[in-house]
Amino acid sequence: MSSFILVGPGRAGLSVAIALTGAGHQLAAVAARDLRSAEAATARLGGLPVLLGEPMPPASLVLIAVRDEAITPVAQALTGSEIAAAAHLSGLAGLGALAPLASAGAAVGSFHPLQTLPDPDLGARRLSGAWVAVDADSDSLRGELRRLAESIGAIPFDVAPEARATYHAAAAAAANFPLAALSMAEDLFVAAGVPFDAARPLVEAVIANAFEVGPRAALTGPVARGDAATVEAQLEAVRRYAPEWDRAFRAFVDALAEMSGNPMDVT
Ligand SMILES: NC(=O)c1ccc[n+]([C@@H]2O[C@H](COP(=O)([O-])OP(=O)(O)OC[C@H]3O[C@@H](n4cnc5c(N)ncnc54)[C@H](OP(=O)(O)O)[C@@H]3O)[C@@H](O)[C@H]2O)c1
Repeated sequence: MSSFILVGPGRAGLSVAIALTGAGHQLAAVAARDLRSAEAATARLGGLPVLLGEPMPPASLVLIAVRDEAITPVAQALTGSEIAAAAHLSGLAGLGALAPLASAGAAVGSFHPLQTLPDPDLGARRLSGAWVAVDADSDSLRGELRRLAESIGAIPFDVAPEARATYHAAAAAAANFPLAALSMAEDLFVAAGVPFDAARPLVEAVIANAFEVGPRAALTGPVARGDAATVEAQLEAVRRYAPEWDRAFRAFVDALAEMSGNPMDVT
């Protein structure tokens, strides 16, 4: 068991804090720029509410869960406290984002859950079984962060520092892009008088197949078959019944043509 401080009780920070306290780690304090949000978090999870920049109690680790662009200014604001180790939750930012704390003598690291954490309770549940990218400037903090991930049922893994932007682009493609396709599909199903729920078994099978045989081998449909006439008919229907999706539908057709190696000559 270890003690930690949460800085930034937002969606990701609270998700991780709920999972960690659930696994027996002790929350020593929650720091926020608005004391009321720190108080709301500590009323539920324990620990002291602290205004960001005020002295914090001792803890083995400070988790900095603020938006990416705020990490370095917040790290700077924390240099007045005695901090042995700190980690941020960003997938993109490197350890340099915590330079003010490293200069003040803290070990610094990162702990990025490769999971969507849209609200604290749902996020905490989803962390079990998720993968967590871990990095640190010392073996001892790296080991501590790996054990922390394992303690909540997550799987720690490494990302090379120079690959972080690519890793983050991959995470966005995996987490966000399917939602654009599903949003488009929902509008088109509704336009066709079919409930979106009818697509659930199809969508779940597509995802399962992508991980079983790989996304390219899982592709079916007219683009995979090189059937331009069917794609033309689809495009015409989109233009007529959901014109706001015309450009995006074409972009998806282009992406599928690229991945399947079947050029689509459609108007
Ligand atoms: N949500 C996810 O799915 C997810 C998943 C993995 C990793 N992450 C990472 O987690 C971090 C936080 O993301 P989030 O989604 O949890 O964002 P969020 O819900 O917007 O929460 C951000 C937190 O940071 C605080 N904050 C923002 N700017 C600040 C500043 N200048 N000074 C002090 N506090 C500030 C906010 O306080 P106020 O309430 O006062 O604005 C809030 O407590 C990011 O690095 C993100 O990449 C998020």
